[in-house]
Amino acid sequence: MTKLKLMIKIRLLIYCVLLIAPIFVSAQDLKSPNGELEMQFDLKDGRPQYQLKYKNSTVIKPSFLGFELKGSSLKDGFEIGNIKNSSVDTTWNPVWGEESTIQNSYNELVVELVQPSDKKTLNIRFRLFNDGIGFRYEFPIQPNLKHFVVRDELTEFNLTGNHKAFWIPADYDSNEYSYTTSKLSEVDAWKDPAISFGNKETNRPDQFGVKTPLMLKSEDGLYINIHEAALIDYPVMELHLNKENFQLVAELAPDVLGNKAYLRTPFQTPWRTILVSDKAEDILASRMILNLNEPSKIEDESWIEPMKYMGVWWEMQIGKSRWDYTNNLDEVSDEGKLIPHNNHAANTKNVKRYIDFASENGIKGLLVEGWNIGWEEWLSGQEENFDFVSPYPDFDVKEITEYAEEKGVKMIMHNETGASASNYDRKMESAFKFMNKYGYNAVKTGYVGSVSPRGEHHDGQWMVKHLMRSIKTAANHKVMINIHEAVRPTGLQRTWPNFMSSEAGRGNEWNAFSTGSAPEHETILPFTRLIGGPMDYTPGIFKLKNYAPAAPQRQMHSTLAKQLALYVTIYSPLQMAADLPENYKDHMDAFQFIKDVAVDWDKTYILEAEPGNYVTIARKAKAKDEWFIGAVTDENQRTSTIKFDFLPKNRKFLATIYEDGKNADWKQNPESYTIRKVIVDSRSDLKQNLAPGGGVAISVKEATPHEIKSFKKI
Ligand code: NOJ
Ligand code: CA
Repeated sequence: MTKLKLMIKIRLLIYCVLLIAPIFVSAQDLKSPNGELEMQFDLKDGRPQYQLKYKNSTVIKPSFLGFELKGSSLKDGFEIGNIKNSSVDTTWNPVWGEESTIQNSYNELVVELVQPSDKKTLNIRFRLFNDGIGFRYEFPIQPNLKHFVVRDELTEFNLTGNHKAFWIPADYDSNEYSYTTSKLSEVDAWKDPAISFGNKETNRPDQFGVKTPLMLKSEDGLYINIHEAALIDYPVMELHLNKENFQLVAELAPDVLGNKAYLRTPFQTPWRTILVSDKAEDILASRMILNLNEPSKIEDESWIEPMKYMGVWWEMQIGKSRWDYTNNLDEVSDEGKLIPHNNHAANTKNVKRYIDFASENGIKGLLVEGWNIGWEEWLSGQEENFDFVSPYPDFDVKEITEYAEEKGVKMIMHNETGASASNYDRKMESAFKFMNKYGYNAVKTGYVGSVSPRGEHHDGQWMVKHLMRSIKTAANHKVMINIHEAVRPTGLQRTWPNFMSSEAGRGNEWNAFSTGSAPEHETILPFTRLIGGPMDYTPGIFKLKNYAPAAPQRQMHSTLAKQLALYVTIYSPLQMAADLPENYKDHMDAFQFIKDVAVDWDKTYILEAEPGNYVTIARKAKAKDEWFIGAVTDENQRTSTIKFDFLPKNRKFLATIYEDGKNADWKQNPESYTIRKVIVDSRSDLKQNLAPGGGVAISVKEATPHEIKSFKKI
């Protein structure tokens, strides 16, 4: 940290302390800085409970808090000990993100709960922001609680009614589902037979489960989002739903013994978070989850660099080529060498073709999958699978990295673990040394399949800690990391800004190898998966039909203009141009938007949003007078209203509009687009047509006098 940064931090700290002021109604009442949110805490027969109101109407009815531990309980029998109030109002600057300055403003209440019978203490810390609440449990050091096992967390979120929910099933292992939109009473978490959660036989009303971030909308138009922040050493919280009373209860992903977490004091759980607003746009504008995470732990952040990248990747996803080098490991030549099939994508010649295209078009990074020995049996469940340092014979790592360097392209490492995290734990250090040796400064990791250690779940405490080890090891080696099949994010990029992105959701790739996702998918993602952090969604597919050789009927559920809009509406500091170079070559005019669009921002403006229907976002590029706008719609045509009042006043700008063609629609005519240029200023209002399953992408920069003369004003 620079001296200046340190001084600013110290000054802010003093400022925060000075601000501690008694603005609370009573000891167990807490209000948000603007007074619109109100939390009440009390004990009911010795059981801790809280409730939450927004503009005087109830959001969360009285809901219990607490734990069942192995051999004891922190559920009831409590008395209130000390109570502390404080307030913070400060700003901070992330290394990268949707804003370059973030305001962190909240009122805090810490309640000490004492169990006289057991002589145990549990603290609960509540933070009330204007956009929501975060609370967490803290277990201080104490003689009667040193090492302990959590059997159940009892946190409740008692909702007021049968809200509309945008949900995916709780199954402890995957987030890669399409969202279902239904009333809570219609949640059917085991409609997919692959889902183990719940018990189909008994079909009890309390046996349904959903994942977070859970987006809800009440009948009177309140938007509520339930999630968690700062998950670093604890299992993922999923939510158990009781449909009879619309009660949600924390359901922690268990280990094979049914235990949830192994803890030692002092310990603090992740924050449980509830965002609330009567405007959908506010949910997307919230930075509360980031604010609840700790400041960066990386001293020298200079090597962390948002970028766009391409990949020797989509061609395997669509089945055109393969990750593995040989069909059969047992087939060897007379000299004892593996016999290759002729379809291995990660060969030096093909990789160079991608490097050339990326270099010619200013795309910084190139990912190559299938470069290392092990893909023949990556799904075979072998615990000892890849070693992460042995290239296939046709991938010349030295030649490739030198060629890339000459061409100004950074190679991105790929470490698929086949979910054998135990194997990766043992080999991680040498994997990162290999990256350092060859100058890779970014890695994509992946965890497809059943987890090793066997019996562990992707969402369990063991895997959460494993992922943290990978993030920290990457940081020690100055490598940026992007994790696929990860636990869904909880704002950790504030603390570990080398944790650039993750998948942890149903990405664009599902359109390559399955029947895909409905056009509404990208209007729900910002309200669900993206609430916790960036997503490596891999946008930018231009060949939208007839791309999968073995499945010619398969098609993307999107127009080409919508693929461009996703660079703005789905935030990630690592943003892929996912299609093949040959598919871009016919549309280089549209590819210009991908070349131009920023990946790091000064400001974000949520212009219009409704989960399941549409999202329109404008962002200002970091340290540049350039703005980019993306709008996406679901399967319905839409006229989007884009107001340019976020632009500086009294200046004229050139807007380049990449829009759906007149007869475009995702199903029949997805590749039809037009590009037009108009002059705009801060008073401009654009009525923009979006085709069914379509979108629009707009780039805006200062207009030259010649452009002002040549193009019409809107
Ligand atoms: C699943 C990932 O999401 C995908 O991007 C990757 O190509 C494959 N696993 C292979 O690692
Ligand atoms: Ca995946």
